Formats: sequence, C-alpha cells, structure tokens
Amino acid sequence: MEHPRRLRMTPEIRRLVREVVLEPRNLVQPFFVHLGKDPEPIASMPGQYRHSLESLVEAAGEAREAGVGGVILFGVLPKEQKDELGHGAYDDEGVVQQALRLLKRHYPDLLLIADTCLCEYTAHGHCGVLVGDQVANDPTLELLGKTAVSQARAGADVVAPSAMMDGQVAAIRRALDEAGLTHVPILSYAVKFASAFYGPFRDAADSAPAFGDRKSYQMDPAAGVWDALREARLDDAEGADMLMVKPALAYLDLVHLLKERFEKPVAAYLVSGEYSMIKAAAERGWLDERRVVLETLTGIRRAGAQFILTYHALEAARWLNAGEGNDS
Ligand code: PBG
Repeated sequence: MEHPRRLRMTPEIRRLVREVVLEPRNLVQPFFVHLGKDPEPIASMPGQYRHSLESLVEAAGEAREAGVGGVILFGVLPKEQKDELGHGAYDDEGVVQQALRLLKRHYPDLLLIADTCLCEYTAHGHCGVLVGDQVANDPTLELLGKTAVSQARAGADVVAPSAMMDGQVAAIRRALDEAGLTHVPILSYAVKFASAFYGPFRDAADSAPAFGDRKSYQMDPAAGVWDALREARLDDAEGADMLMVKPALAYLDLVHLLKERFEKPVAAYLVSGEYSMIKAAAERGWLDERRVVLETLTGIRRAGAQFILTYHALEAARWLNAGEGNDS
C-alpha cells in the first residue's frame, strides 16, 4: 500500500523532505510615514503605525536587524496638503522623499522600495488625475514618471507603481532612463484587483476615494485569468523587472501562473485586510497568530512568490530567526 505517512513520522524526516523555504529575506515590511511629530497607531491594523520620521528610523532598523528583504514606504498627508494633481507625490521635499533620504543615510544596506501612486496625495483620493469625474489615463502617466524619478533620486532602490494606469511601467521606465536612473528596477503591481481587502490601508493612509470606486482601473476579481495574463504580459513588455499580484490569498492561482509564464521574479502582497483578519482573530484567542502567519506565508511561497509584502514581515522574521518555524 502507498504510505505517505512514512515521510511524516518524525521532525527529522519532515525536515529532510520539506521543499518550501521561508526566510526573512523573502519578506518585505510596509511602513506608513507622516510628517507629524509622533507615531500614531492605526486602529484597524493593530501593531502598525503612521510613523514619524524618527520612529520610522527606529522601526526600519529593527526590520533590517531581523533580516527582512526590504521595506516599502507609503506617505500619509494631512487633508489640507492634498490637491487635485497630487503634488505631494513628486515633491522632492515630500514625506516619502524625506523618509527615503533619512533611511538611506542610516542604513545604506537596507533595500528601500517606494510605492509609486497618487492616491495618498490627491484631494479626491483617486490614483490618477481627474478629467470631469473620470480618472484620466495619459495625463497621469507623466506624474507617475515624475514621482518615480523623485523617489529614486531620494534613495529608493526600487520603485513600485500601483496606480493601475495603462502604460505606467513604460512611462516610468522612460522617465527613469531619461533621468540617468537606468539602474533602478521597477516592481510592478501588475495584477492588482479592486479589492475590499484594502479597507484598513485606506484608513491608514486616509486614501479612500472621495467619490466612486477604483473599479475603472483596478481589476475585476471575476474577469478571469485572461485579464491577469494580459496585464502581466503588458508590464513584462513595458520593462517591469518584477511582477506583483495583489491581494495574495484569493489570487494564489495567479501567483502560480505568473511564476510559470514569466522569466521574472513574482511577488505577492498580503494586504491590510488580510493582516487585520488574522490580528483580529488572534486578539480574540481564536487563532494561533504565529502558526497561522507562517502557514499563510509558506503557502504563498509554495504558490510561487519569491517575496511577500506583508505587515507581519518583522514579526515573522523574528519568529523565523528564533527557530520558531512551521514545525515548532
Ligand atoms: C496605492 C496602494 C493601495 C495599496 C497599496 N498601494 C491602496 C489602494 O489601491 O486602494 C493597498 C495595500 C493594502 O491594503 O495593504 N494605490
């Protein structure tokens, strides 16, 4: 008789046959940063903060110490500083630019990723500029290019466009190259859905659209595999260096598909709502947080993600460093 249990009987044999590796370097920690004096806890994301520049330096130092693969920054702007064209995104003295310069100075060996989008900086909260009540594609491209250049000049090692405008990867590549930043890679949010799982993020970044929703640019979860393949093919052809799928858990089939089809590293973003669900259940004592997080991250790695953007990155990296992996 076939007897699969033979290879599960002891920790030693399980360790021998285990294929999926999860290491701190596979995790990227997202941070929110604002120009306020103090860090502010984010109610819907226990353990996460709108960091001040000072607390960001401290938190990023901890992430670096734990060996995470990198950090990704999101700027938070007070309402009165947002405007129609999202100037805060491409202001060389903007919050993310200041944070990048500071972190690069403190930790030259910590990989810095900048989220390249306008929604945290526009008064209307959309990811591009408006013409009437429509998010206009082509006028947005130039602003995304400017944002990426400004971020790279400030110290971003990688730029990550998330606005879901058509042609944004090509526009950003051209802008970077024209600025002499040919060495800066693009991590494209290639397959990004209009998802209810972004809810807590929009609280955190105060970036909920003031009217309407993002369904005219972010993807329809029910569209099907063709839409994901098309988005990935276009970003691949436009020069994306890495392809991301977001959110992660409801879209692991697409993580796997991109891994099979493209000769580029694939990333997955375990988003705010996915983080908060686990936190909420853990706070009630309904789930063992450590085990659930490690199991989740392992599953995303098995699906084909080279690295995972997750608010649990620092905690998970510490568990892994302490030898508290999946089998403990
Ligand atoms: C910016 C952006 C969003 C997220 C990452 N980049 C918000 C959105 O598209 O509404 C969501 C991340 C998360 O929920 O953790 N466009």
